[in-house]
Amino acid sequence: MVVTTGSDGITPREGWSSRSAFILAAVGSAVGLGNMWRFPAEAGENGGGAFVLFYILCVVLIGLPVLLSEVLIGRHGQSNAPESVRRMAAESNKSKGWAILADFGVLGAFMVLSFYCVVGGWVLYYMGVFADDLLTTGLAGYAFQGRPAAEVEGLLPGLFGNGALMVGLHALFLAITLFFVARGVSSGIEWVATWLMPAFFVLFLAITVYGAFTGGFGEAVAYLFTFDFSKLTGPVMLAAVGQAFFSLSLGVAGMMTYGAYVGRDVNLAGTSGIIASADTAVALIAGLCIFPIVFAAGLEANAGPGLMFQSLPLAFQDIPFGSLIGLLFFTMVFFAALTSSVSLLEAPTAWLKDRARMPRPVATGMVAGGALVLGALAAWFWETPVAGISSIGLFEGQDLFNVLDTVTSKLLMPIGAILTCIFLGWVANQRLVDGENGLSGGLHKFWLLLIRIVCPLALAAILIVGIFPSIAGG
Ligand code: TRP
Repeated sequence: MVVTTGSDGITPREGWSSRSAFILAAVGSAVGLGNMWRFPAEAGENGGGAFVLFYILCVVLIGLPVLLSEVLIGRHGQSNAPESVRRMAAESNKSKGWAILADFGVLGAFMVLSFYCVVGGWVLYYMGVFADDLLTTGLAGYAFQGRPAAEVEGLLPGLFGNGALMVGLHALFLAITLFFVARGVSSGIEWVATWLMPAFFVLFLAITVYGAFTGGFGEAVAYLFTFDFSKLTGPVMLAAVGQAFFSLSLGVAGMMTYGAYVGRDVNLAGTSGIIASADTAVALIAGLCIFPIVFAAGLEANAGPGLMFQSLPLAFQDIPFGSLIGLLFFTMVFFAALTSSVSLLEAPTAWLKDRARMPRPVATGMVAGGALVLGALAAWFWETPVAGISSIGLFEGQDLFNVLDTVTSKLLMPIGAILTCIFLGWVANQRLVDGENGLSGGLHKFWLLLIRIVCPLALAAILIVGIFPSIAGG
């Protein structure tokens, strides 16, 4: 392997130890709370089938080409996201100002990190609940024996009502993330991915197979795959695009940062395909896991953020080995969440470390410190509409947690993706692009058509009808 130096010109550049390490880390970044928690919640709030179909369309025609573009820019630039864009712009004799697209990305990743770790804290809470339950009911027991359903359902509102506990768990989840990112790319981030992602997939398949035998499957399939096109309004389309970007870790510098650690010998198009397929498969299967339980328990599909956390514990009350399955389920979600949060912390860390010439642990600590504060505010002011903002259409009635989510997934990610496409498709010297993407012939032309024309126009249109639904008559 060729040893190149980092941006300080002295220390060797960090990187993945192999192609499979990159795939695991990138799939680890993509697969996370976005798949297990956010996807079912978004599908449920946006009417099911129409949302799901449009989501899949977005992944294939927008997400995948943008994913390839981001990884490509990162690998070409071999640096943190804004610096990678700047280098590519300089080599193309274009304005280095294009780096601003990645500056906003770094800011966006920081915002996602802040609220992501709050939800990571809820996962830790439920791991504790089930571990405790397992100790009292024993290995083979149904979960929460003798406790009324209302009490089980009340666990989540109980947590939401306890600001101090939510802040503490957020801090704990963030601290675990910090620990691994501070150790660096190959011995921290890659270590987490290579151990936890295989464990995640084993548990995920086992629990899915188990769930398939507990009934309710047919109704869930019907709900997720019946397309009622009248439900496909502007806001639903914007939500679907936002979810596709969120789930694939796009639009906010995440995959650009990981791309910089990829070796020259890796075929970027092929690996992007693997990443997007794995991510989408997990989201759809998670939907098929969660909705049967929701329907069997007579719960509403549009329960929003509480869906995974409220419906599943109820279901585990009725199935053999419920406590054990519950503990395994939330452990698996924790693994997936951690391999994603490390990527969210890495994007701003890589930037700060190079920019301020700081040692990695110091930069990691500073970014995490900022996210600690922002996330703690989001947890503390739970369900408190943000003054001034919550009267604006897109943010109607939202608290800080939801404002952070909306700003990133519905504004920063789509806009970041538009700029990335324009930069790579129109601004960058095409010689740099041609040699790098691993595509040839018709596929290469098709990808160019997507990033030059289809993605920017489609995204601009979706942004407009999503933000101003009245234009589309919705
Ligand atoms: N994709 C992750 C998930 O679905 C979240 C995530 C990780 C992310 N890194 C990102 C989202 C970078 C946007 C950008 O849980």
